[in-house]
Amino acid sequence: MTRIGIHDLELATSHHVLDLGKLAEAQDIDPAKYRVGIGQDEMSILAPDEDIVTMGAAAAQPLLERHGQQEIRTLLFATESGVDQSKAAGLWVHQLLGLPAHVRVVEFKQACYSGTAALQAAIGMISRSPAERVLVIASDEARYELGSAGEPTQGAGAVAMLVSADPALVEIEPVSGVHTVDVDDFWRPNDSSTAVVDGALSIRAYLESVTGAWDDLAGRGSPDPATIERVVYHQPFTKMAVKAQRALSSRSGAQLPARGLQDASVYNRRLGNTYTASLYASLASLLDADPELAGSRIGMFSYGSGSVSELLTGIVQPGYWDADRAARVRKALDARVPLEVEEYRRLHARVLPSAVDVDNPRVTDGPFRFAGISGRARHYEATGG
Ligand code: HMG
Repeated sequence: MTRIGIHDLELATSHHVLDLGKLAEAQDIDPAKYRVGIGQDEMSILAPDEDIVTMGAAAAQPLLERHGQQEIRTLLFATESGVDQSKAAGLWVHQLLGLPAHVRVVEFKQACYSGTAALQAAIGMISRSPAERVLVIASDEARYELGSAGEPTQGAGAVAMLVSADPALVEIEPVSGVHTVDVDDFWRPNDSSTAVVDGALSIRAYLESVTGAWDDLAGRGSPDPATIERVVYHQPFTKMAVKAQRALSSRSGAQLPARGLQDASVYNRRLGNTYTASLYASLASLLDADPELAGSRIGMFSYGSGSVSELLTGIVQPGYWDADRAARVRKALDARVPLEVEEYRRLHARVLPSAVDVDNPRVTDGPFRFAGISGRARHYEATGG
């Protein structure tokens, strides 16, 4: 059977960052609630000329520079924060990256789960045409109402993955566990730029999905739990992974070290929730934090409210370790420009109506920018940066 999985991966985030200590102070809340209680230190905040397209293109560009674009025939763009009801956000990425006309582009939606749906679709396409590669981009901005319980769990980021046969990073194993239930824990109505959420229900639904997905995996011939060395989780906030690991260990009997959780949360603690990208940011965090994982079996738990979840397993490939990737992510996180709370609140309130022409101010120093809206159409450009 052809071995298929993630050949390479790259993370991008926003121009701005908000320290959660500053947010807690402005809200007269003990900062330990954010840093310890939910396990978050910072959240990435988009500049006015950034969005899911600019972050997605910024994440994908280095993959094309490293591997070329010849074998890519499909670009799958996964997002909860779509910018159009009809056009796939990936089409603007296709243009910004100069991809050829023979590359098909589609957008995937199911809350935070759709990055994993796109990965599975890519694997299916490659199993039919093993010489092809699929570019999967998961990109999101997590937005809740100001003053709501969800506010400290916002964030922004994108992960681009090149999916191929004979992958260099992580081979995805063929059997996975799926758990789907119709539940109103989190959703975003068409006319709302912020999510509606029942926090306590969403945590319960997530934890029931961890055990439900494990039960399905076990029933379909899961690997021996004793052979699973680390598990990475969708992380709306990093404490959620701690709760999930407790639930998974007690259901499956897997002995999962706490070190794995810490390694897999380094980036998420600083990005905030990145919805579709969150699980893959956590995977990048784990791979970058531990150079001794070659040959290890890892679990990957994907949860998307509403809800669909999937527990995958994969084998970390020899030679996966790349100190440069870790340095690039650290540099991108450190380079974000800090916001004061008042500036952050002003940016949060800026929601663009599509019926009015807008020229966005030049703020981002990333490689692509959301230039504005004219004639109700969005326009993007390369910055040369
Ligand atoms: P809350 O009501 O503000 O917080 O909402 P809390 O009172 O439940 O406290 C949170 C934790 O902080 C608790 O710890 C407290 O004890 C602790 P826990 O009992 O959970 O271990 N705490 C403190 N710790 C230290 N010092 C202190 C202190 N005070 C309290 N002084 C909630 C928290 C996460 C619910 C809220 O932020 C929220 O609604 N977030 C959005 C929803 C969410 O992230 N849900 C997660 C599961 S759903 C999911 O993952 C899908 C999603 O990503 C969307 C998608 O699929 O697209 C959201």
